[in-house]
Amino acid sequence: MSNVVVVGTQWGDEGKGKVIDLLTDRTDYVVRFQGGNNAGHTLVVNGEQTICHLVPSGILHKDKKNLIGNGVVVDPAVLLEEIDQLKKKGIAIGPENLSLSEKAHLIMPYHKAIDLAREKAKGKDKIGTTGRGIGPCYEDKAGRIGIRAIDLLDLDSLKEKIESNLREKNFYLTEFFKAAPMEPKAIFDEYKNMAGILQPYISNVSVEIDQAINSGKSILFEGAQGTHLDVDHGTYPFVTSSNPVSGSVCAGAGVGPDKLHHIVGVVKAYTTRVGSGPFPTELEDETGEYIQERGAEFGATTGRRRRCGWLDLVMIRDSVRLNGLNSLSITKLDVLSGLKKLKICVEYELEGKRIDATPAGLKRLAQCIPIYEELPGWDDDISSARRIDDLPTEARSYLTRIVDITGIPLSIIGVGSGREETVLLENPFQDA
Ligand code: GDP
Ligand code: IMO
Ligand code: MG
Repeated sequence: MSNVVVVGTQWGDEGKGKVIDLLTDRTDYVVRFQGGNNAGHTLVVNGEQTICHLVPSGILHKDKKNLIGNGVVVDPAVLLEEIDQLKKKGIAIGPENLSLSEKAHLIMPYHKAIDLAREKAKGKDKIGTTGRGIGPCYEDKAGRIGIRAIDLLDLDSLKEKIESNLREKNFYLTEFFKAAPMEPKAIFDEYKNMAGILQPYISNVSVEIDQAINSGKSILFEGAQGTHLDVDHGTYPFVTSSNPVSGSVCAGAGVGPDKLHHIVGVVKAYTTRVGSGPFPTELEDETGEYIQERGAEFGATTGRRRRCGWLDLVMIRDSVRLNGLNSLSITKLDVLSGLKKLKICVEYELEGKRIDATPAGLKRLAQCIPIYEELPGWDDDISSARRIDDLPTEARSYLTRIVDITGIPLSIIGVGSGREETVLLENPFQDA
């Protein structure tokens, strides 16, 4: 049996949720390993939409286990709300098919307050975070003052940690941001109540994964965000605070690198970005609007309009290198139908020279001029394609160019948001 990792190769929202849901058929476990409820992963089955923020995207499949690894930052209120919503939809969800790592750090109300206060103070220079407290929670983890899921099992220590943290956070909130202080007792009472409900979900996820692998089960690791939002490798500081790259599975789920067999990079057929930050191939014209409308490019978490642009293969080549990709899943190819001409950025020009990797400095990145290749578009509605031969010649040429330039084969092509609106070329689980 083999284990597969699915990661985003752009700035998030590549369609990872759909790919995970589709591949869950072939696995036993689905595991989140980083990020938090800044993620919004959309699944569409029989016309019904479900958006997963913290619960892994395998949840619609019966008899599969969904694990939230230690690398995820978890807002317990959001997790409980999501569990409730899924139950209301008639989806079976409980400790028998969902576990939360005891080592996962918890997002606290002061993390959200600091995230929002900082963004407000930054004004036009804001990062455009999701406001979910993600960055401040990871800061406390690195600062060794974080509160973890396991602390929900020891209420005396939870109380002490909240009180101690609030002494520092309240000073920061009131003195620096002139915001209101927070009340330790109110936070403790809220978290104590949630602890009672969450307790049966809390487990040693690393051991669960190990036991599963030893008994011949397959694991699917679900990335959130995208490679260019990675805190080390992305367009810093316009990034998230975790490592969405595939290597982060090991630290974020508690599994050795020898257990990862195939890495799928999800590539939207064009590029989108929510929030601020550089975007070399951004289209601020009617083509951008066309893509935005046809692709329904609104954030699944915050509802913000996503910025749209041409496919940027400089970014994708970075992602091939940073993630060790074995195959690409191209999504939303159907959205490009109707455009007469399509452009793919193959290199950047910087100070008169051609470069094929993203520069680290934002000023240099801003000076990069995309070098485009132009390809013919197609008019046909391709959403009913299920085999590569069902696609028009021009769509196949577009895909072939991506493979030629990146050197990576395709495994899955998305031609619509529904689970079945897919061309499956290769099963990533066959590879062990
Ligand atoms: P994720 O965060 O990477 O899981 O992606 P999101 O769910 O935030 O955004 C992707 C959006 O595109 C969702 O609305 C999906 O339902 C939709 N989607 C995914 N794949 C396809 C596809 O191949 N074609 C079309 N038209 N929509 C898709
Ligand atoms: P999925 O998993 C797209 C972006 C935010 C902001 C930056 C930092 O659905 O692909 P944060 O709240 O993480 O501190 O915000 O990162 N961002 C995402 N953009 N998809 C996501 O997740 C994102 N998660 C964070 O918009 O620019
Ligand atoms: Mg999303």
